[in-house]
Amino acid sequence: MVIDFDIVVAADRKRGIGKEGRLPWHLPGDLKYFRKLTSTTKTGSYQNAVIMGRKTWESIPLKHRPLNDRLNVVLTKDADYKVPNGVLKVASLDDALELLQDFPVETCFVIGGGQIYDLCLRDYRLRKVYLTEVDAEFDCDTFLPDYERAFEEIFQSQPHNENGLSYKFRILRKKKEGDPDAS
Ligand SMILES: NC(=O)c1ccc[n+]([C@@H]2O[C@H](COP(=O)([O-])OP(=O)(O)OC[C@H]3O[C@@H](n4cnc5c(N)ncnc54)[C@H](OP(=O)(O)O)[C@@H]3O)[C@@H](O)[C@H]2O)c1
Repeated sequence: MVIDFDIVVAADRKRGIGKEGRLPWHLPGDLKYFRKLTSTTKTGSYQNAVIMGRKTWESIPLKHRPLNDRLNVVLTKDADYKVPNGVLKVASLDDALELLQDFPVETCFVIGGGQIYDLCLRDYRLRKVYLTEVDAEFDCDTFLPDYERAFEEIFQSQPHNENGLSYKFRILRKKKEGDPDAS
C-alpha cells in the first residue's frame, strides 16, 4: 500500500521559513493550529505521524519533544544518531513511509524543515500543503522552493492578526496530471 502525506509549513512572502535553526516569528495562533491539525484523528485508536528532518527535531525545545499525541519520525543519515524511546529514526523518506505502514497511523504530516520540504514537494505521494502564509518579509536563511505553480488552492482563511503580523491559513493541493501547469 502506498502511504501518502501532507505538508504543514509556515512561510513568509518570500517563502522564508527559518533563521539560524529557528522559526523567524512567534505566532501562538499558528502553533495552536499546528498542534490541532497534526494531533486530531477521526479514529480514537489511531495517531498521526509527524515526519521531520534531524535539524527540525533539534529545533524543538527538549521539554516539548517528542511532540505529544503524535508518532514522531526523524530523518537522518547518521546511523549513530540517538532518539528517545518511541521516536522512529529513518534514513530516507521511503523508509519512513514504509515503516509507518506497520503502525496505526491515520495521516502522515511532513513538518520540515527546508531540506525535507524540498524533497517532499517533488514527491508523487504528496497530497496537500497546509500553508500558513505570513504577510511580511523576514531575514531568513531557509526557504521553500518555488512550488506553487503545480498546486491549486482549496481553502483560504480570513487574515489573523497577532504580534503585529497578519497571516492566513491556506490549503493547497497538487494539480491533476494533464494540467499544463502541473509539473
Ligand atoms: N516555517 C516552518 O513551518 C518550519 C517548519 C520546520 C522547520 N523550520 C525551520 O527550518 C530550519 C531547519 O531546516 P533545515 O533545512 O536546515 O533542516 P531539516 O530539513 O530540518 O533537517 C536536515 C537534516 O535532515 C536529514 N536529511 C535531509 N535529507 C535527508 C534524506 N533525504 N534522508 C535522510 N535524512 C535526511 C539530515 O540529517 P543528518 O545531518 O543528521 O544526516 C539533514 O542534515 C530551521 O530554521 C527551522 O526552524 C521551519
